Amino acid sequence: MKLLVTGGLGFIGSNFIKYWFKKHGKDTIINLDKVTYAADQQNLIGIEKYDYTFVKGDISNSKTAFMLSKNVDAIINFAAESHVDNSILNSSNFVKSNIIGVHNLLEAVRKYGTRFHQVSTDEVYGSLPLNSKLKFNEKSRYNPRNPYSATKAAADHLVNAYFNTYKLPVTISNCSNNYGPNQHPEKLIPKTIINTVKEMPISVYGNGLQIRDWIYVEDHCSALEQIIKRGVYGETYLVSANNEKRNIDVIKSILKELNKSDKLIHFVNDRPGHDVRYAIDARKITKELGWKPKIKFDYGLKLTISHYLKNLDYYSKKAVV
Ligand SMILES: NC(=O)c1ccc[n+]([C@@H]2O[C@H](COP(=O)([O-])OP(=O)(O)OC[C@H]3O[C@@H](n4cnc5c(N)ncnc54)[C@H](O)[C@@H]3O)[C@@H](O)[C@H]2O)c1
Repeated sequence: MKLLVTGGLGFIGSNFIKYWFKKHGKDTIINLDKVTYAADQQNLIGIEKYDYTFVKGDISNSKTAFMLSKNVDAIINFAAESHVDNSILNSSNFVKSNIIGVHNLLEAVRKYGTRFHQVSTDEVYGSLPLNSKLKFNEKSRYNPRNPYSATKAAADHLVNAYFNTYKLPVTISNCSNNYGPNQHPEKLIPKTIINTVKEMPISVYGNGLQIRDWIYVEDHCSALEQIIKRGVYGETYLVSANNEKRNIDVIKSILKELNKSDKLIHFVNDRPGHDVRYAIDARKITKELGWKPKIKFDYGLKLTISHYLKNLDYYSKKAVV
């Protein structure tokens, strides 16, 4: 296959490119990435022997989106502004990349009939109560509660509308929180690892009791592989490893793993509109496509910590305190 991967210099996109080449070494990948602050060429070290081309460009530029979507078998769209805190400060780039960018890709798909997969998030469904057993599923109502998730929700609606109107070969996945190598140190787990090692304060929003449903990034990549190969057009698949954890407990696990004291933790004012709990029911993808996650949280966390320790100086320079 010849794949167009957008946003392939970021966290999940780079893991996906490596995963795909490991499994499909004869395939061709074109990586279209705008190279924002979240991108990193280092994320793709080790793929030199494969048929890989990098193009610096922006999916919100329709000419670029059209040019690169031609003559490929599938487009997998990871390109997005992804940090909720940044979207609260200024959401213009979120609207541009996450909505207009997806619209451009869909227009190209309409013209060329290319298979398209939109990588989306569980955050489009909003927040669940802390003390409940409720989980999101494919029928849950969209209820985005911050500018980032609103732009991702808008993109999902466009994909579904384009399927309904033009019967295009499109699918969507809404995945829970990812962790693993290559994540920008602005995000909770890498930031905590770096601050812990350096014995710097670890800021925790609010009371830290917010719950996220963590999945190791390679498990997300294998779910995407199944959807690209066997997903039914027009369908949405929710992806998670059924691994709900309170933020404060994730932080304490990292402190324990690195033999540091809980005294590094300090609580700061909560993020405005902070979602308290995400939880995903991933039975559909398991039942219909046979996908299951493989990596248990404790093991995945050890792999992640080891990645950041090996590259500590490098990540420390990028870190946001
Ligand atoms: N990180 C998570 O836990 C998570 C969970 C579910 C879904 N997602 C979704 O997965 C996708 C990838 O997330 P991530 O965590 O790897 O993000 P990331 O911020 O690490 O990477 C995003 C990449 O997209 C590129 N990019 C941004 N705007 C672009 C544009 N207009 N044109 C081309 N490239 C552009 C950036 O340069 C960067 O390389 C996003 O769509 C995100 O919404 C993320």
